Amino acid sequence: MKLMKKKLRLKKIKFIPVNVPKVFKEEKIFVKDCLDTNWISSEGSYVKKFESEFANYNNRKFGIAVSSGTAALEIALKAFNLKTKDEVIIPTFSIISTALCVIKLGLKPILVDSGLSDWNMLVNQVLKKINKRTKAIIITHIYGFPVDMSRILRIAKKKNIKIIEDSAEMIGQKYKNRMCGSFGDASTFSFYANKHITTGEGGMILTNDKKFYKKCMSLRNLCFGLKTNRFDHDDIGWNYRLTNVQAAIGCGQLKNISWIINRKREIGKRYTKLLKKNTKIYIQPLNNNFSKNIYWVFGILIKPNTKIKRNYVMEKLLQNKIQTRPFFYPMHKQAIFKKMKIFNKNEKYPNSEYLCKNGFYLPSGVGIKNFEIDYICRILNNIFKIS
Ligand SMILES: Cc1ncc(COP(=O)(O)O)c(C=O)c1O
Repeated sequence: MKLMKKKLRLKKIKFIPVNVPKVFKEEKIFVKDCLDTNWISSEGSYVKKFESEFANYNNRKFGIAVSSGTAALEIALKAFNLKTKDEVIIPTFSIISTALCVIKLGLKPILVDSGLSDWNMLVNQVLKKINKRTKAIIITHIYGFPVDMSRILRIAKKKNIKIIEDSAEMIGQKYKNRMCGSFGDASTFSFYANKHITTGEGGMILTNDKKFYKKCMSLRNLCFGLKTNRFDHDDIGWNYRLTNVQAAIGCGQLKNISWIINRKREIGKRYTKLLKKNTKIYIQPLNNNFSKNIYWVFGILIKPNTKIKRNYVMEKLLQNKIQTRPFFYPMHKQAIFKKMKIFNKNEKYPNSEYLCKNGFYLPSGVGIKNFEIDYICRILNNIFKIS
């Protein structure tokens, strides 16, 4: 009987995408409200509601909803009014958005390597790279744990260096019992479908500074003239607005944030339990000494001297209907930045290179079923010949 059930389950395995989000009943009610009342553009009460509820959730005063996490970074950095060639410290191991916002504004990105255990920017390297030209640091939390940021924050405050806390992957995470996204001058978020809460596409900037808030509001909306003529614009801005329909989805998701965080941690625990015998791979711990892993994604890092290579594992998983993604490709290796001669080619970032060559992540969205996780682990362990 048990065997039969198992066979039936196996038959039911369909393609497992790397991320399946979950839409709750609240989103449907709120979106219907937008449609029923014709409030579908970026005007409309859900945008304000989402901004204030999300700011409140993160213990910040002001929220500026925007069209993506990338847009949030661009606006926040521009709102600091830095000068051309001012230096901004960022991790090389990150999404390209981290470097793009710096480069597009004519600022100078200064890279740091990441650690091999938490995959976050190395604090000691950040501190070493601070000099008179350093005007901002983008603290970018990656994959599961936040950056151990106390020392960076302390020194930045002393030296008047601006901090953006990029919390795109850390919605609902805490650092030393305080919400990620509540640190620094501004924090940024993404609500793409693979984030802890999603609006399909979307983002948010949070801050406690009213002047900065007003500048960001203006920048996301083409800097329409505030004095006599609306169409005589105050600065170079963007149309990076979020629509009322997207914000309505965000309000619904926010109502379910506790469930989402719990489910993400359950997924992480289940993978950990089923993969812990696999000595060929490194997986992150459930906790470190300042945070509980929030498992934005469940990352796998193949250990050194393992004969089986990352691309082979990903290919085998795909043959078994399991979609995965490689880890980020570091900024100093990006062909476009090499062509533009953005980074000093003599500087080395060995950990980031190791991560990008040997890391990948498993399906981690809240829509995944437990039997799918069990199946993925069985296949993955088989590939490494672990029984
Ligand atoms: C750390 C980080 N910052 C920024 C972004 C960009 O967000 P978006 O895809 O919404 O532009 C991402 C996207 O995954 C991210 O992981």
